[in-house]
Amino acid sequence: MLTLFPGMFEGFTTHGLVRVAREKGLVDVCLHDVREHATDRHRSVDDRPYGGGPGMVLMCGPVFACDEKVVAAGRAAGLSGEPRRVLLTPQGTPLGPSLLEELAREPWLSVFCGHYEGFDERIRIGLRPLEVSIGDYVLSGGEVAAMVLIDGTVRMIPGALGAAEATQDDSFSRSGARLEGPQYTRPREFRGMRVPEVLLSGDHQAIAEWREQQALRRTRERRPDLLGEEHTGEPQ
Ligand code: ADE
Repeated sequence: MLTLFPGMFEGFTTHGLVRVAREKGLVDVCLHDVREHATDRHRSVDDRPYGGGPGMVLMCGPVFACDEKVVAAGRAAGLSGEPRRVLLTPQGTPLGPSLLEELAREPWLSVFCGHYEGFDERIRIGLRPLEVSIGDYVLSGGEVAAMVLIDGTVRMIPGALGAAEATQDDSFSRSGARLEGPQYTRPREFRGMRVPEVLLSGDHQAIAEWREQQALRRTRERRPDLLGEEHTGEPQ
């Protein structure tokens, strides 16, 4: 991760899925502070745009220098070739399941988090990153978007999740994009709300059919587009 705020990733890399995947040796996340590569006495990483206008633009120098350090550090750690560079920006390709799967197959990702009004265009021209957006809204920086990307990518790495099939029933897993149906756990009754009888029946066939039905129904109600259908009205 190349960022101006490495501290933002501390909790993310030391908890939950990413921590477990790191402990299993499936992934490592290295934080690189772009500001360490500033060269002036103010440690500047941004400057005013040529031609005028509001806001500040991330400068080439610190970003290219940080990229070079990342490449050298990766090679020293035994990685070969170049990292796949990814730049988080609202102007990028929308992030979806197939892109996550593609990124999960990469041995080495270099993730650039932007800030301020944007990047000097020569960062794009010179480093040729894959530009990725997590949605049609503007965040204050790329860090949160990068965490979304890393979390979604790590889940796709075989062995990262507990059970081998754990992503199969997930909403948006590639085996037929559809939403997951409702789930219940103990107790059987909570504040007058009961667990559907079929789930207590022990009849595996009936349970599988019910789950299938519920998943389809939920998808039809909330995301008919996933089934290639139009919205038919309010959910029942
Ligand atoms: N940086 C700011 N907004 C973003 C977005 N929507 N996706 C990715 N990176 C961003």
